[in-house]
Amino acid sequence: MSTAPSPTAYNYKVVRQFAIMTVVWGIIGMGLGVFIAAQLVWPDLNFGLPWTTFGRLRPLHTNLVIFAFGGCALFGTSYYVVQRTCQARLISDGLAAFHFWGWQAVIIGAIVTLPMGYTTTKEYAELEWPIAILLAIVWIAYGAVFFGTIVKRKTRHIYVANWFYGAFIVVTAMLHIVNHISLPVSLFKSYSAYAGATDAMIQWWYGHNAVGFFLTTGFLGMMYYFVPKQAERPIYSYRLSIVHFWALITLYIWAGPHHLHYTALPDWAQSLGMVMSIILLVPSWGGMINGMMTLSGAWHKLRTDPILRFLVLSLAFYGMSTFEGPMMAIKTVNSLSHYTDWTIGHVHAGALGWVAMISIGAVYHMIPKLYGRAQMHSVALINTHFWLATVGTVLYIAAMWVNGITQGLMWRAINDDGTLTYSFVEALQASHPGYIVRALGGGIFASGMLLMAYNVFRTIRAANTEEAEAAAQIAVVGAH
Ligand code: HEM
Ligand code: HEM
Repeated sequence: MSTAPSPTAYNYKVVRQFAIMTVVWGIIGMGLGVFIAAQLVWPDLNFGLPWTTFGRLRPLHTNLVIFAFGGCALFGTSYYVVQRTCQARLISDGLAAFHFWGWQAVIIGAIVTLPMGYTTTKEYAELEWPIAILLAIVWIAYGAVFFGTIVKRKTRHIYVANWFYGAFIVVTAMLHIVNHISLPVSLFKSYSAYAGATDAMIQWWYGHNAVGFFLTTGFLGMMYYFVPKQAERPIYSYRLSIVHFWALITLYIWAGPHHLHYTALPDWAQSLGMVMSIILLVPSWGGMINGMMTLSGAWHKLRTDPILRFLVLSLAFYGMSTFEGPMMAIKTVNSLSHYTDWTIGHVHAGALGWVAMISIGAVYHMIPKLYGRAQMHSVALINTHFWLATVGTVLYIAAMWVNGITQGLMWRAINDDGTLTYSFVEALQASHPGYIVRALGGGIFASGMLLMAYNVFRTIRAANTEEAEAAAQIAVVGAH
């Protein structure tokens, strides 16, 4: 469905495109997650082919879920939110279209090159230099559209969600460009400009802030718009949201060294990373509480509104993973958790519980509005999806906690004579049941995404073009 560009209407076309691709990449990225989880249960699924091995498909999974699924959710919602809260159309339809198609090209680039083994070997920054340059160009276009729209806004103040989206855009650009500085030696091979411990520090400054600004700050922008909207309540404390913003972005940037405990990184840098990570609990929980308390007086809506349930549960998982993270950053705790499945459990408490659930809630909120419908095709299916997502997440993370602590304790157990009590393979055998439960939990979560696709498809098929066009008209006051 296309709307003729009109300066009096929002550009919903690009929002629709990103919203649909969120669902598509969600299914593909999580489906691949289930597949690599199954490879850890049944190694025969590696098929003996280089491009289907776990080592090559794992980075493809992370790229697809973070940048394709998470990215499209962030772009679609940020374009929706910035237009509605600024009461202005995006400054350029052409640049927005370039952003959409350019981003899909980056993802296709990842799908082609990662299984072929082309990689920088830096986690979450694996894409080789030609694709990394394309990504930077597309990102700059995104920044231009987003900030340009803020500049031409018709409202006086800038709603807090846009501050979070804005920080996500600026900091991600900085991280990506600095971490990717490298020397290309061929079309698909480059070497980092940094060496040794400096390279590791830059990489985890990037890696941790990819979590902090891509997987957290951007999604907090989403939270600050969609939670109040869906609950039909103003945000609990606007003042807290401003404190939350400045405290979060000031602290996150220092915490990267907690990924490098007990390495060649200077000890003071490790301790600084640990302390900053512990302090980070405070703004993280400030944000979570601000979101949760927005439901004051609206808690009863949880009984009937599964979209709100997605949004609120995502906040609960956000609170949980931002409690767990600071604990894992303590060096003594990290000596047990590092290299084990506990880290994987922590990652997915954030990734499935927080990132995926808030995105799913936001997409369910937007789709009917983008297609001129009062609500999604089936509210019952959203409810089923909610329970599949919840059960899937809980099975996944519980299995990884059990595995992680088992592995950590087995690896460090020593006999009286100083020899190791268990061989590595024994710890692996002890992990096997947990891998089965994780694959099952992941499969349950991913099956919920299929229900979502069906529900979205049916809603779009019943789209009401006139209603959608009327809804896209820019109201003069109080439209957001
Ligand atoms: C206050 C907030 C948080 C802190 C202090 C924190 C801390 C940590 C720590 C200590 C590790 C383990 C490092 C290691 O032993 O290698 C870790 C890993 C990780 N965390 Fe968090 N975490 C926080 C929140 C989150 C959230 C909300 C997410 C996801 C949305 C997340 C995603 C990750 C990822 C992806 C890794 C794995 C990185 C890797 O080794 O590849 N974290 N985090
Ligand atoms: C059905 C859902 C999913 C399943 C079954 C799944 C499965 C997996 C598996 C098996 C791994 C490799 C673990 C290992 O190396 O031992 C992994 C890694 C990872 N996944 Fe997922 N995943 C799912 C969804 C997601 C989502 C939605 C995100 C992000 C938004 C995500 C982010 C990650 C990250 C960041 C890692 C790397 C963790 C690290 O290096 O510490 N996953 N996933």
